[in-house]
Order: sequence, then structure tokens, then C-alpha cells
Amino acid sequence: MGFVSRGLFFLLAIFVLILSTPCSCGFGKTHKNVKSAVFLSPKFEIGPGSVVNRFFYGIDFPKGHIAIKSFYAEVVDEAGKSVPLHETYMHHWVVARYYRPKHQSHRNHSDIFVSRNSGVCQTKINGQYFGLGSETRGTATDIPDPFGIVVGNPAEVPEGYEEKWFFNIHAIDTRGVVDKRGCTECWCDLYNVTKDEYGNPLKSDYKGGLLCCYDYTQCKLREGFEGPKRSLYLRYTLKWVDWDKFIVPLKVYIIDSTDTFRKSKFPEHDCQVEYQVEPCITGDKDGNGCVDVKRATIPMKNGGYVIYGVAHQHKGGNGATLYGQDGRVICSSRPRYGKGKEAGNEAGYIVGMSTCYPQPGSVKIMDGETVTIESNYSNNPGHTGVMGLVYLLVAEQLPRQHFRHSSRSSFYMNVNSLSD
Ligand SMILES: *[C@@H]1O[C@H](CO)[C@@H](O)[C@H](O)[C@H]1NC(C)=O
Ligand SMILES: *[C@@H]1O[C@H](CO)[C@@H](O)[C@H](O)[C@H]1NC(C)=O
Ligand SMILES: *[C@@H]1O[C@H](CO)[C@@H](O)[C@H](O)[C@H]1NC(C)=O
Repeated sequence: MGFVSRGLFFLLAIFVLILSTPCSCGFGKTHKNVKSAVFLSPKFEIGPGSVVNRFFYGIDFPKGHIAIKSFYAEVVDEAGKSVPLHETYMHHWVVARYYRPKHQSHRNHSDIFVSRNSGVCQTKINGQYFGLGSETRGTATDIPDPFGIVVGNPAEVPEGYEEKWFFNIHAIDTRGVVDKRGCTECWCDLYNVTKDEYGNPLKSDYKGGLLCCYDYTQCKLREGFEGPKRSLYLRYTLKWVDWDKFIVPLKVYIIDSTDTFRKSKFPEHDCQVEYQVEPCITGDKDGNGCVDVKRATIPMKNGGYVIYGVAHQHKGGNGATLYGQDGRVICSSRPRYGKGKEAGNEAGYIVGMSTCYPQPGSVKIMDGETVTIESNYSNNPGHTGVMGLVYLLVAEQLPRQHFRHSSRSSFYMNVNSLSD
């Protein structure tokens, strides 16, 4: 199908496809009525070396009381063609839920409030439901049956409000720049930035990161380089099922390796989102492989059964693991680096993260358990503005009577009897 125009594309998106082939995403029986739709974000224009870090409110999203089964997204151009990371680097896209007064004018977002995920960072940090970075094309997001992320429940929406969704899209165009790695790691000198976006001077030891590549900043171009501005979109595909009582809801947690949790009178999280990896000074002489290890230890007020897990890292990352209090592995996720030129396989970029799909019931976080996240990066060379997150989907209950005998066959039995 050729890409025609945004309007036609939306028309197509409105015709929700009822998938006749069940998704190959799990175990047990697949849900019969998985719906799927493709949407486009609002258009953003990006020139060589420039940055888009923008918020788009009220994005297209399936209506009604539903359970999300997957969320895929990638950057495309006006012809609908996938744009490779070495041209437009996808730093991150995140999708968050908010409530807006009904009949609100759209221009001013002062009276909306974000309905964040289940934690665990402080109020305004890492509250999204969905989101990935450069790995977006190669990372599985399917949620096995009978689980789902339940949204659009009218009973949860405060009186007089409606549920909406926004995107934050952070993309960096690196066509013609002097140093692609430096621009994607947001080195402040390449952006000629010494103050943050609100005019506050940056600390002298802040060499790079989000504070230096905010919306409309410009990374340094090679002398004389000229290239066209482009109009791009985030094209996203959602799969969902209508709510029914057999769906088991999942909670979204994001654990951040920069969280300096403090046990004071009131437990306080302090997630920094990003951090700096100092270069390996010794070369590899001491045989530690020049690995930077970032750890944070965090109590989980509420636990549950882990159904899905995935880490988010930047270039240089070589894996992140979440451990339980007794040292068992809850989820370990590793990056895959591309080897070619084409979108989805760009050499030197993280093009996918491995995911965790434990047999439901087999991996449980206890209420009040302290978990440890470990994020490893190669520190030869060092890096700025890196991240080490683990995103978890957790079920507080398993499907009816399940796992009394915690055997796989009893699970199949239950699922089969549910879906027929
Ligand atoms: C938004 O509207 C409120 C109430 O009308 C007003 O107080 C506030 O200054 C406005 N904010 C912006 C950014 O325009
Ligand atoms: C860098 O920023 C300073 C002040 O903010 C400005 O005077 C200077 O021209 C800029 N340099 C370049 C190369 O844009
Ligand atoms: C991180 O590196 C340390 C030290 O090399 C190693 O013991 C640990 O297993 C690594 N963890 C991950 C998640 O790769």
C-alpha cells in the first residue's frame, strides 16, 4: 500500500482491523477479538542537526474500556517510509495518560492532571504507560493472554473529566553533524548550550544529557553541510481487546538505576532518569572489562507476578538486570546492536532489547520486597546522558484458581476454559 496523505491514512486507521490470525505472542490460547489500528502522531519538522523534544496532547487512541495488548511505534517520513536512526535518532517516545476537564479549550494544559503508572519514581518522573527509544523497531511489546493494560475504565475517570493520552517525542536529526555519537549523547559543547531550557546555568561537570538537547536546540554541523528539512511522524500501532471479566489487569512499573531512594520518615524516591558513565581510566589492564555498573536498591510496596519485563539503555549499554532481595533474577534484558544501514538494523545503534516473558506465576515480587536494579555500560569510551531503566508489567492476581498446582498444564486448562 502506498502512503497517500495523512487524511486518508487516518481514514484507514479508523477502519479497525479485526485480526484473523491470532498474535504469536505468548502461550495458551490467544484472545479471539484482538483489534488493531495504525495511527500517526502530529507531524514534526526536523532539519539537519536539530532536535525535537515535543509534547503532543490528545493523541489518537482507541476509545472505550479496553485492555492494551501491544504498542509498537517508529519514525516514518511523509511517504510512510521508515527513517533510519543514523538520520533521525529516536532518543525516546513515551505515552502518558491524563485527565482533562470536559469542554476544556485545547490551548492551555494548566488544568489537566497526569494519571501516572504504578511507580516507583517521584511524582513527575517516569510516569508513562508505554515508551521506548532507538530499540523500538526490534523490541517485543506483546502482552500474553489473559493479561492486558486496562484503560478507559469510566469508573476511574474523575467526575467532569475525560481520559486522554499524550506523547513526548524526543528525536535528534544527525544528518551532516560533526559527531553523531556526541549529538545523540547530547554533549553540551556540540549544542553550544550552557544553560538549561529555562535559563538556569548548568553545573560545570555536566558534560551532556537531556538538559543540553531540549526542543529546538541545534547540534554542530560539518562546515558547509546543507540538507532539507523533513516532515516526520511517529507511526504507532496499538493492539487491544474490549474489556471483559476474564482479562487480568497489569500494573506498569518503571525501576530506575539512578533512583537514590532514601528511607527517611517518608520514603523518598529521587530518580535522575539519566546519568554519566566516566571513561575507563585503566584501559582494560585490571581485567574488569571496562564495565560501569550502576545499581539502585528499591523497596516495592506492592509486588505481584511479573508477566513482562524489558530494560531501556543507550548506546554502550550491555544489559540490565533486576534482582530480588534473595539475589534471584527477576528479569534480565540485553541490547542488540545493528549491523547494517537499513532502518531496524543500523550499525552501532541499539536496535532491540531482549524481553522477559516468565511463565505466569513463576516469577513473583513479594509485597514489600527490596529489589536491586543493575545497569551495565561499557565505559571505553565514557558516555553522557545514558539511561538504565527496567519496565515491568505485574499482575497482582493470576487468572481464577490458577497455579494452585503451579503446573503449566493446569494453566492451559484454565485459559482454555476461559476463552471458549
Ligand atoms: C491557563 O489558564 C489559567 C486559567 O484560565 C490561567 O490562570 C493560566 O495563566 C493559563 N496558563 C497559560 C500557560 O496560559
Ligand atoms: C554559542 O552561544 C553563544 C552565546 O550563547 C553565542 O554568542 C555564540 O555565537 C554561539 N556559537 C555558535 C557557534 O553558535
Ligand atoms: C554487570 O557487570 C558486572 C561486573 O562485570 C557483572 O558481575 C554483572 O553480572 C553484570 N550485570 C549485567 C546485568 O550484565
